[in-house]
Amino acid sequence: MEIRRLAWALGVEVLGLDLTIGITDRDFADVRDALHESGVICIRGQGAMTPEDQLAFAAEWGDISIHPYVPSIEGYPGIMKIYDPNPITQTWHSDSTHMSDPHAYTLLLARVLPAVGGDTMFASAVKAFESLSPGLQAMLRTLSAVHEGTSLAADAGLDHDAVVAIHPVVRAHPDTGAEALFVNDNYVTRIDGWTPEESQPLLEYLYGAIGRYENTYRHRWRDGDLVIWDNRSTQHAVVGDVTGEERVLHRVTIAS
Ligand code: SIN
Repeated sequence: MEIRRLAWALGVEVLGLDLTIGITDRDFADVRDALHESGVICIRGQGAMTPEDQLAFAAEWGDISIHPYVPSIEGYPGIMKIYDPNPITQTWHSDSTHMSDPHAYTLLLARVLPAVGGDTMFASAVKAFESLSPGLQAMLRTLSAVHEGTSLAADAGLDHDAVVAIHPVVRAHPDTGAEALFVNDNYVTRIDGWTPEESQPLLEYLYGAIGRYENTYRHRWRDGDLVIWDNRSTQHAVVGDVTGEERVLHRVTIAS
């Protein structure tokens, strides 16, 4: 197995694994460490994985989460079909932060890719936090933010109280201790105790820091890519330049 860096802020690729035959404990520990260190990893050449293989590998990372309102693919609870970019996936976010225990990891396996377009952007929320002044960092450590489910939750008829959570604006990663910004434009509606209008300028400033080019990595998908990201330390957004061509990826999320 070989691990190579893809960008300075975050992202590594892993070569030489065949996950259809499983993974040794030692290789898994190295891959897990690489993910915690770099925030996002791409394991190349996994196009032969079946949905059963993907679920079995995902289970190595923790409990597979079944999405409360987006259905799984037929016969495989826990695998969600991701296709055309939409306003929710095109906005920088980490997954399901409206839950009281947001997802730890997400695994996304390429199934059908357009010839060009539909790249996925990743940003280091750790680097974004590090880029702020000590004064602002100290103030942010005292704040929490209100995260609310998107229109998809309302369309699915979920009670609003079931899709609201309050999280600290800065969270330390449970394995590395690295502090990361934990606010995103999909789910955060305000700073706790502030009005939406008071919150917006600060939130916009923080979203700008997250999306700054030097804090990002752009993933150009190749056939067989299995990308895994750490939702505690990164955010992601798909580039919405897919016009008419098919784009299908299979997503599994791991509970915290
Ligand atoms: C997602 O936000 O989970 C999907 C990202 C993508 O379509 O690349």
